[in-house]
Amino acid sequence: MSAKLAGIVGAGVLGLVGLVGLLPVGRAAPPAPAAVEDTMAQRMQACVVCHGQEGRAARDGYYPRIAGKPEGYLFNQLANFREGRRHNRAMNHLMQRMSDDYLHAIARWFAELDLPYPPAQAHGLSAAQQRAAQRLVFEGAPERRIPACVSCHGAAMAGRLPAMPGLLALPADYLIGQLGAWRTGQRKAAAPDCMAEVARRLTAEEVGAVARWLSSQTLPLGTKPAAHATEPLPLRCGSGEP
Ligand code: HEC
Ligand code: HEC
Repeated sequence: MSAKLAGIVGAGVLGLVGLVGLLPVGRAAPPAPAAVEDTMAQRMQACVVCHGQEGRAARDGYYPRIAGKPEGYLFNQLANFREGRRHNRAMNHLMQRMSDDYLHAIARWFAELDLPYPPAQAHGLSAAQQRAAQRLVFEGAPERRIPACVSCHGAAMAGRLPAMPGLLALPADYLIGQLGAWRTGQRKAAAPDCMAEVARRLTAEEVGAVARWLSSQTLPLGTKPAAHATEPLPLRCGSGEP
């Protein structure tokens, strides 16, 4: 770990100490000095140290954007880290002592943030890879029972209420990491885990192409997740169903 990175992680842990101090739970550390203004914005600085306002890449990987994702999705992820259905040391540790009520408050806070998305990036895909990625996103591969990504993640890929995340403007490395984690069982969502099904039906080449294509796209400021689905999803999802 570089000194700079150690500094960043260290700052995150310091922020975490402050955060725990401000937590509305019994066993936490004593309250922080009154000089620290006790607002949600202040407390959530501990998260922004790693995640940045709009997501952030660092030498050790990626810190996904959390602003503007559906509240239900964010709550599910915070609980997944707390209960070990997702694995990341810092996140598992941070969530360990937080109550459901507090996780809902955090999820609501980040869901309501309206921050610009980064500009579109070059994807570096060949024409054939780009076609394959776009086909998966908009049409799926019915011959292999892979539904279109948009059929669940929303026509604009900006997510869908109550708990389906948007997929654009996330780093390709992060997307590849998540799809890989579902394929190996490292990441789990509530059963039936439709995303595990989708991820297992994709080839490694498709994962790379679709991740790079998604990460190259952007969204206009103010884009919100789509409304609740009115029709059943193409696969049953234990999380993210209306
Ligand atoms: C030390 C760095 C660090 C800190 C501090 C941190 N996170 Fe994270 N967080 C991560 C990393 C890395 C991931 C991605 C883990 C993975 O690969 O699954 C993540 C993932 C997440 C996700 C899942 C995002 C998604 O799209 O599925 C949420 C939600 C989240 N963090 C919320 C928070 C909140 C809220 C806080 C503050 C209370 C916080 N994080 C503090 C590093 C951090
Ligand atoms: C049947 C519905 C469905 C389809 C089709 C679907 N997804 Fe998902 N996806 C979900 C659900 C539900 C989640 C949230 C799971 C959770 O709570 O952890 C999710 C989450 C994700 C995530 C994690 C995002 C993050 O911020 O961590 C990625 C990446 C993803 N999907 C990629 C895809 C891709 C690529 C496709 C198309 C090939 C696709 N999905 C098709 C239901 C679907």
